[in-house]
Parts: sequence; structure tokens; C-alpha cells
Amino acid sequence: MDLANKRILITGACGGIGSAIADHLAEHGAKLVLVGRSQAKLESLKTRLMYSDYHQIIVTDLSSFAGLDTIKAEAQAITEVGGIDVVINNAGYNQFDWLSHRQPREVSDELFLNLTSPILLAQSSLEWLNRPGIILNIGSTLGSIGHPGYSSYCAAKSGLHRFSEALDRELQGEGIRVLYLAPRTTSTSLNSSLVEQMNAELGNQSDPPIVVAQHVRKVLKKEIAQRWIGSPEKWFVKINQWFPSLVSRELKKHQQTIARFIQRRHQEN
Ligand SMILES: NC(=O)c1ccc[n+]([C@@H]2O[C@H](COP(=O)([O-])OP(=O)(O)OC[C@H]3O[C@@H](n4cnc5c(N)ncnc54)[C@H](OP(=O)(O)O)[C@@H]3O)[C@@H](O)[C@H]2O)c1
Repeated sequence: MDLANKRILITGACGGIGSAIADHLAEHGAKLVLVGRSQAKLESLKTRLMYSDYHQIIVTDLSSFAGLDTIKAEAQAITEVGGIDVVINNAGYNQFDWLSHRQPREVSDELFLNLTSPILLAQSSLEWLNRPGIILNIGSTLGSIGHPGYSSYCAAKSGLHRFSEALDRELQGEGIRVLYLAPRTTSTSLNSSLVEQMNAELGNQSDPPIVVAQHVRKVLKKEIAQRWIGSPEKWFVKINQWFPSLVSRELKKHQQTIARFIQRRHQEN
């Protein structure tokens, strides 16, 4: 899809990756609908974007059905001025901890924001998205490789991957593509300084958010169904698919380091 003058809705727009996507797509002539929870943050992002007047904001919390209804109402209103061409499901959150230490409510909220909410926003968008249109779901390497300390986040992103694949196939010939892009570790506030230290100790590489934004533009332009960012991570994804026991063996070597950082997290909280 040629993105110039297309209207693109981005959830989690004020976050590290979301704001990099917004900057990059605005520079390439897209009109943005920025979704987030804080009006002040959204307005400040909108003001600093190129062609500021083209863009608009929606203040809502995607962790509730009411929040999703707000997007639907606003998106339907936008159809009168040309409608929305692309939805980027980018809002997300995780908590690094053993499953046994977490509250059921926290686990359920994490699953809702990372999986249920993008599925329901995609479902709603089938009513108001322009044809041709694109739904792009932002996943994670952890959606393809089960990692200790992130079990429910891995489950949510893995579900988002399969959902994207299934819906893309379901909508064949209907003018809507459903794409999936999986970043590896990216330097944003999603990762606490403790997680950053652990990643450095484990040798996990981290991308600046602009790298993800550039991939977003390429994936939308070429309508690439699924992409994993970063090498060797994208090869580990393949190895994990075919030979999961090899990856389990590698991760076992890191188990003590992971446990030490989770313990530090508990001590610091
Ligand atoms: N950073 C990484 O290492 C990494 C790696 C792979 C994949 N990802 C994925 O990339 C996406 C963006 O993450 P990020 O790194 O940019 O994280 P981030 O800087 O923490 O931003 C996350 C965004 O999600 C939004 N969000 C969180 N809870 C929300 C809620 N209840 N309702 C509405 N919005 C909510 C936040 O919105 P507010 O502005 O309203 O707080 C924030 O803008 C996520 O889906 C994440 O899973 C990240």
C-alpha cells in the first residue's frame, strides 16, 4: 500500500515504539490517528509530528470494552472525512516474573491488553476500515520462543501471531490484509533497567525504536504477511519451531541468571 495521505490509527502511540512509528509515518505523508491513555502526552506527540494539523488523537484505555467502544465511535465518525486505511495494534505491556509469583488479575490484564484487545479492535475495524485496508499487529520474538519469566506474555503474542495468520486467510479477497511484525528486544520503557541489565548479561541485542518503525513502513508498503526483526533472533524462531529441545538446552544455561534477576526484582519492589 502506498502510505502517502493514508489515514493510520496507532494504538500505544505515545510509547517508545508507537511514537517512533508515528514520527516515521508522518514524515512519509501519512495522516495519523494517535491512540493512548493520556491526553497531554497525545497532544504533545501530535504537536511535534511533521504536518501536525493532519493528525488527530483518541484518548482511551484499551484494557476495557468501553475503551474499545470509544475507538469504534471515533473511527465511524472519521469515515465521514475519508475513513481509516490502516490499524496498527501496537499497545502492549508485560511483566517479567515467575507465573507462580503473579496475581491472577495481573495475568488476566496482560492477556487482555496484548491479545483480546487487538483481536476485538480488529473485529470492530471490519465495520469501519476502508477497503483496501490493513490491520498490522505488533507481536514479539517472544511470541515464537517461550522464555522463562514471560510465560503469559509469550502466550499472548503467540496467540496474536496465529490470530493474524488466520484472519488474513479468512479475509482473502475481501480487501483487508492482516499482517504480523515481531520486534526483538527494543530500547523502550517496556523493559525496566533490571531487564536491560539482564539482557546485556545474556547477550541479547536491543534495537532502537526507529528500527521497528522502518520495518513497519516496509511491511505496510509491501504487505508482508509476517516478519521477525533481527538476526540471530529470526533464526532462533525457526530453530525453536523445528528443534525446540535445542532452544530449551540453551535457555537452561541462562536459568540461573534469569532467576537471579527475578529475585533482585522482588527485593527491589
Ligand atoms: N520494547 C520491546 O523490547 C518490545 C519487543 C518486542 C515487542 N514489543 C511490543 O511493541 C509494542 C510497543 O511496546 P513499547 O516497547 O513501545 O512499550 P512502551 O514504551 O511501554 O509503550 C507501550 C504503549 O502501550 C500503551 N498501553 C499500555 N497499557 C495500555 C492500556 N491499558 N490502554 C491503552 N494503551 C496502553 C501505552 O500507552 P500509554 O501511553 O497510554 O501509557 C504505551 O504507549 C508492544 O506491543 C510490545 O509488546 C516490544
